[in-house]
Amino acid sequence: MDLMKEELERQVAASLEAQPKLLPFIAELLADVDALGSSPGAVVNLLRSLGLPGAMILDVGCGKGAISVNVARELGWHAHGVDAFQPFIDHATQTASENGVASLCEFTCDDMRKVVRSGKSYDVVIYAAHGPLLDAVPCVDLLRMCVRAGGYIVIDDGFLRENVDSVPDGYRSYRRHAETIIQMTAHGDRLIREDVYSAEERNTIDGQTTASIRARAEVLAARHPEAAPMFLEYIQNQERECQILLDIHVPATWILQRQDRR
Ligand SMILES: C[S@@+](CC[C@H](N)C(=O)[O-])C[C@H]1O[C@@H](n2cnc3c(N)ncnc32)[C@H](O)[C@@H]1O
Repeated sequence: MDLMKEELERQVAASLEAQPKLLPFIAELLADVDALGSSPGAVVNLLRSLGLPGAMILDVGCGKGAISVNVARELGWHAHGVDAFQPFIDHATQTASENGVASLCEFTCDDMRKVVRSGKSYDVVIYAAHGPLLDAVPCVDLLRMCVRAGGYIVIDDGFLRENVDSVPDGYRSYRRHAETIIQMTAHGDRLIREDVYSAEERNTIDGQTTASIRARAEVLAARHPEAAPMFLEYIQNQERECQILLDIHVPATWILQRQDRR
């Protein structure tokens, strides 16, 4: 495998708290989970408030397409979802058909780091449940390049709790609230909406997700006993991630409006 493909696979796996060797099993492990860390309902409500009939969104790292399909179904907007994991793209395409919105959705398997630099411009770009994954700090530098002047950047993620003093490896790019806002608006874009959720509320969703993954892992382990420790490690990583987020993170969704200095 070439080095770039290998690096991309590592990034995809890491974004799912997995080792690359687990990727062949990921689609089955996550078969009962539609949204991989985001809340499509919350994102749709946020977008609805913009009142942009027929808008075109770019959903980067769209996973199984939960946000794009919901946006198309609920708002009638057009969605372009990009994800580097082909099984998720296949699933998203099928879900769009099942929901009667195939004509509004396009899903492509590609590296989001390339897509955000492609020079195409959308009404809205959505960056959901990724943490600081794009290779720029802050990643809003790149996201804003995909939207037209006056277009919108939606970030579904969160910030560090105020009282946290020790942050585990892998979470160090998170900032406290004030610094997060400074980073996001560093280009003069306008923060037009912020919704903050309770970590406990988000954790309940994650707990349900972990339970369904555990059930799938047990079925897989019976079929592939040699790989059972790998499945167990994955479940433990998921539980660790839930606990870390509960301890250090406040979930939030933001809408920024791109402003261009004259
Ligand atoms: C935590 S999931 C979030 C998925 C989706 N936004 C959601 O909320 O359901 C992260 C996703 O990013 C994708 N991903 C990671 N690195 C990527 C890259 N460089 N290009 C495209 N997709 C990537 C993974 O395949 C995975 O589907």
